[in-house]
Amino acid sequence: MTYPPATAESIIEGETPIFIRPPNTDDGWGIYELVKACPPLDVNSAYAYLLLATQFRDRCAVATDIEGEIVGFVSGYVKANSPDTYFLWQVAVGKKARGTGLSRRLVEAVLKRPHQADVRHLETTITPDNEASWGLFKRLAERWKAPLNSREYFSEEQLGGEHDPENLVRIGPFDPTQI
Ligand SMILES: CC(C)(COP(=O)(O)OP(=O)(O)OC[C@H]1O[C@@H](n2cnc3c(N)ncnc32)[C@H](O)[C@@H]1OP(=O)(O)O)[C@@H](O)C(=O)NCCC(=O)NCCS
Repeated sequence: MTYPPATAESIIEGETPIFIRPPNTDDGWGIYELVKACPPLDVNSAYAYLLLATQFRDRCAVATDIEGEIVGFVSGYVKANSPDTYFLWQVAVGKKARGTGLSRRLVEAVLKRPHQADVRHLETTITPDNEASWGLFKRLAERWKAPLNSREYFSEEQLGGEHDPENLVRIGPFDPTQI
């Protein structure tokens, strides 16, 4: 492998360097394995992750270690009826890579891409007791100097009674050139 990999759009230097890049066709299974290891995330099918890694690759990112193992992943899309809003579906960082700012960098890498220049808001859903997730999105709002609002979105009942409710979190407006 050439160093750094030609596809890397962001590099986190260190004893164990990490590379951030858009996903590709070969990443579906690695993403699936990572999400499986990151409760409380819902695990979608390997097929769904392959679709994200190909048809939504411009709006998603993976982080890999020097051996190419996927240690971080973020997925999302721009809402069809609100082209200034990026909906972040899932963000996951493997246990070994946590606490080093990787999830923040994954989200910011996607939002900094030139084709995301019209995006001024980020939305996501969070279950009430996911402290790490609340911490991450509060921190992002703080960094981007943008307000954060939340409200219940999908109730436990709507989710079949076996899933915590999901709150809709909206951050923005922010200036993507300042991220
Ligand atoms: C949530 C998750 C992605 C955070 O990944 P991470 O790379 O460790 O997060 P970062 O190091 O980028 O932290 C960014 C900010 O989030 C907050 N944060 C991260 N982990 C936290 C925790 N366990 N508790 C509270 N706040 C936390 C901190 O404010 C941190 O900013 P700071 O270090 O400047 O104070 C990771 O814990 C994970 O994959 N969890 C399981 C899956 C999940 O719940 N995903 C989110 C729902 S879609």
